[in-house]
Amino acid sequence: MSDWSAKNPYSSNLNENYVLNGEGSLKETRHIVFDLGDSGLQYKAGDALGVIPRCPPELVEGILTTCGFSGEEEVETHLGACSLREALTDRYEIHRISKKWIKGLGSRLSSGSGSIEIRIVHRQRTSSQDGSVVMDWRGSGVEDDIPDGYVEIGSARDPAEVLWAELTEDPKAMEDYIWSRDYIDGLADFGHIGFTPQQLVEDMDRLKPRLYSIASSPDFEPGAIHLTVAIVRYNHHERDRAGLCTGFMADRCEIDETEIGVFMSPTRSFVLPEDGSTDVIMVGPGTGIAPFRAFLQQREIDGASGRNWLFFGDWTEEGEYLYREEMEAWRDSGFIDRHDLAWSRAGSEKVYVQHLMKQNGEQIWNWIDGGGYFYVCGDKNYMARDVHTTLIEICSEFGGMSEDEAKEFVETGLMKTEKRYLRDVY
Ligand SMILES: Cc1cc2nc3c(=O)[nH]c(=O)nc-3n(C[C@H](O)[C@H](O)[C@H](O)COP(=O)(O)OP(=O)(O)OC[C@H]3O[C@@H](n4cnc5c(N)ncnc54)[C@H](O)[C@@H]3O)c2cc1C
Ligand SMILES: NC(=O)c1ccc[n+]([C@@H]2O[C@H](COP(=O)([O-])OP(=O)(O)OC[C@H]3O[C@@H](n4cnc5c(N)ncnc54)[C@H](OP(=O)(O)O)[C@@H]3O)[C@@H](O)[C@H]2O)c1
Repeated sequence: MSDWSAKNPYSSNLNENYVLNGEGSLKETRHIVFDLGDSGLQYKAGDALGVIPRCPPELVEGILTTCGFSGEEEVETHLGACSLREALTDRYEIHRISKKWIKGLGSRLSSGSGSIEIRIVHRQRTSSQDGSVVMDWRGSGVEDDIPDGYVEIGSARDPAEVLWAELTEDPKAMEDYIWSRDYIDGLADFGHIGFTPQQLVEDMDRLKPRLYSIASSPDFEPGAIHLTVAIVRYNHHERDRAGLCTGFMADRCEIDETEIGVFMSPTRSFVLPEDGSTDVIMVGPGTGIAPFRAFLQQREIDGASGRNWLFFGDWTEEGEYLYREEMEAWRDSGFIDRHDLAWSRAGSEKVYVQHLMKQNGEQIWNWIDGGGYFYVCGDKNYMARDVHTTLIEICSEFGGMSEDEAKEFVETGLMKTEKRYLRDVY
C-alpha cells in the first residue's frame, strides 16, 4: 500500500480529457483519465479520488496587480511561511470571497480610513425651476472645510463602510455578495483601505481538495483512474468564472504535462455486494453515472451473475446521454437487464429518474424483496431526496406496508441493518 494522502498527494498527469456531451449541449461534462504511474495507489469500484486544485494564474496576477504587490513578499499561512504568490495559488481559495475575510475588515473600515462623502445643497434663487441645485461634493468631512454659501444637509459614511455594515447585518445580503464575487471584486469594493500582504491572505478560506467518484474499475484499465466531471461555469459582473477544481482540470491541465496532486478516498460503505449473484438497482442521473460505470465494469470482469438495472437521466438524449455506446452495448448484450432513461428537457414535461421508478414500482419491489441492493449517486439536495421518498412509496404500495412501516423498512432495515440501500451523494 502507498501512503499518499491529502497532505502528501501523489503528483499525477492526465492521460485523457474530453467532453462527453453531444454537439450543441449546454453542459460540459468531461471524461478525465488520471495516470497512476508508479504511485502504487490502489482502489476498488465505489471509491473516490481526491484532486487538489490550483487557483487560476490570471486571478493571482490580478490580485497582486490591484494591491501593487510583486508576489515575492513572504506571508505566514496555516502550512507555514511562503511567498504571497504561492499562497494565492496553492493555499487559499481566491475564486470566492470568504465571509470571514469580509467580517475581518470591520475594525479597519470604521477607523476612518477612506474618503468621506458629504451631500450639500446650494440654494440659487434665480436659477432652475424650483430654485435649487443639488450637488455632490467630496471633502474632508471637517466642518470648516465646507465652502462659503453651502449648507450641509447630511453626510454619508464611506460607501464601503455602508456596504460592509449591510453585509454583516444581513446574512442573505452576505450570501448574495459572496456567491458572485472573488477577491478582485472584493478589492474593488474594499481595496482602498489598504492591505499588507499578510492582511490580504488573513481570513481567506483554506484551499480544499475536491472528491470525485471513480468511474472505472481498477481491473478495467490498471494504472488509470477515470472520472466523470461536470464543469462548473458561470458569468458574474461581466467576467467568466469557473469552479476551482473543475475549471483547473478543464482549462489548465495539459495531457501528460501538468502535475496534479491526487489521493485516494476509499469508501467502506458504497461497495458492491460480496455475492455476485445479488441483483443491483443503480440510480445515477448526470455525473451520478460515474460509480455505476465502475460497478458495471467490475461485475462484468468478475462474471457476476446477478441482474443489473440502471436508471440514468439528464437533459436530453442527444446532448447528455453520457457513455451512450458503452451502456447500449451492455444493454444489447443483456448484461444490463433493465435500462430506464429519463430526459428532463426533451419535452414539455420533466421526466426524472424517480418518475420511471414509480412506473416500475412493482418490479423494483420484487428485486428488493428478493435481496437486491439499491444504489443512488449524484445530486444530494433534490434528486437523492426525491428518489428516497419514491422508494418509500414503492415499498409501501407493493410491500403492503403503511407509510410509517415502509419508512422504517427503508431507513432502518435497508439502510442501516442490511446495508443494501447505499448512497454516494454530493
Ligand atoms: C463523495 C463525492 C463525490 C463526488 N463525485 C463527483 C463526480 O463524480 N463528478 C462531479 O462532477 N462532481 C463530483 N463531486 C463534486 C465535486 O467534489 C466538486 O464539488 C465539484 O466538481 C465542484 O468543484 P469546483 O471546485 O469546480 O467548484 P467550486 O469552486 O467548489 O464551486 C462549486 C460551487 O459553485 C457554486 N456555483 C454553481 N453555479 C454558480 C453560479 N452560477 N454562480 C455562483 N456560484 C455558483 C455552487 O455553490 C457550487 O457548490 C463529488 C463530491 C463528493 C463529496
Ligand atoms: N448551474 C448549472 O447550470 C449546472 C449545470 C450542470 C450541473 N450543475 C451542478 O453540477 C452538479 C452535477 O451536475 P450533473 O451534470 O451531474 O447533473 P444534475 O444537475 O444533477 O442533473 C442531472 C439530471 O437530474 C435532473 N434533476 C434535477 N432535479 C431533479 C430531481 N429533483 N429529481 C431527479 N432528477 C432531477 C436534471 O434535470 P433538470 O436539470 O432538467 O431539472 C437532469 O436531468 C450538480 O450539483 C448540479 O447542480 C449546475
